[in-house]
Amino acid sequence: MVRINEHYLKLQAGYLFPEIGRRVNQYISANPGKNVIKMGIGDVTLPLVPAVVKAFHEGVDEMAKAETFKGYGPEQGYAFLREAIAKNDYKDKGIDISADDIFISDGSKCDTGNIQEIFGHDNKIAICDPVYPVYADTTVMAGKTGRYNSGHFEGIIYMPCTKENSFIPELPKEIPDLIFLCYPNNPTGAVASKEELKKWVDYATKNKSIILYDAAYEAFITENDVPHSIYEIEGARQVAIEFRSFSKTAGFTGTRCAFTVVPEELKAYDPEGKALSVKPLWNRRHTTKFNGVSYPVQKAAAAVYSEEGKKEVSEVIAYYMENARIMKESLTRAGYEVFGGVNAPYIWARTMNGMSSWDFFDKLLNEANVVGTPGSGFGPAGEGYFRFSAFAGRENTIEAMERIKRLK
Ligand code: MLT
Repeated sequence: MVRINEHYLKLQAGYLFPEIGRRVNQYISANPGKNVIKMGIGDVTLPLVPAVVKAFHEGVDEMAKAETFKGYGPEQGYAFLREAIAKNDYKDKGIDISADDIFISDGSKCDTGNIQEIFGHDNKIAICDPVYPVYADTTVMAGKTGRYNSGHFEGIIYMPCTKENSFIPELPKEIPDLIFLCYPNNPTGAVASKEELKKWVDYATKNKSIILYDAAYEAFITENDVPHSIYEIEGARQVAIEFRSFSKTAGFTGTRCAFTVVPEELKAYDPEGKALSVKPLWNRRHTTKFNGVSYPVQKAAAAVYSEEGKKEVSEVIAYYMENARIMKESLTRAGYEVFGGVNAPYIWARTMNGMSSWDFFDKLLNEANVVGTPGSGFGPAGEGYFRFSAFAGRENTIEAMERIKRLK
């Protein structure tokens, strides 16, 4: 008799975003013709920029000719893309990361889940509350937790991120082995300063922990002194893995390309306490379970670093951040308490009159035909909050804000 992985039974019914999609589709079926504006899942709406499209086409054309056709590529990614990343995202900014530390993948969602596989089963994992749900759900799927209880899984160390701590968690008293951090933060839009990140790097160093740093939103940073990479912090190469993505940065949510940085010096321990390099393990996993991102997609991603690509992508990001500015201003004027939206494409707002997050979701959907994400879907500390994404078109953004202003 075949048995299921019973840990899946501990998971909540549906992953947050499909659940929102289900409720929205139900509403649309019952109310055909309503113009529902979606600001829920952080999915981009502007097309790929011309420099990226051109390179994408060239990649496809190369695949169409015998002389330039390519079969399997290197699992870790083509050197031209790894080198472009190392140069533009790191070396040119004074950060010591080489092409060899970079592993190209089809998404940070997969990488942040898959990374746990190379670490021991007994590791204690710390995550923020509220948090991008993938970190918790994949920990559960891997069988590293107990039951679900009042919004938390037993066995995970939850680090509350509240208005009082500016959505930056305190260093946990119970020492974790793996620490998920995400800055600019999804869902709160908060950022961590260099001083704050330094505290985490020192804490990880002292406790022989590893920080799993999700920097998927670094391109949206507008303020000068905010760190874009954990490797801007001294000592981070020894204790941190960084995840980055072209999804939001360059509109690749449907195209799929991301990367994970695992520096040479990063170590974890065998059962005898001997320090071993982590990179060969991730390389082993990657080359065994993954056959690389398609050549045209990698060509397209490399074009993000061309002169035209950089200019065009920065214009798209500025467009989304102007949406964020409009939203932040409109919601504040409408009387909402609002966070984020300055260095991240997410606005984190208190619900109206202390409503629960899901009640507010229903009210907004039914009365304003606007969709957002209930804060409680990211964890119990998100209760009473609501997340709006800044990725809608400008007209829809303005229209949604007008409708919210008119809400009774
Ligand atoms: C979000 O809305 O939180 C993100 O779009 C989800 C993701 O990147 O997987």
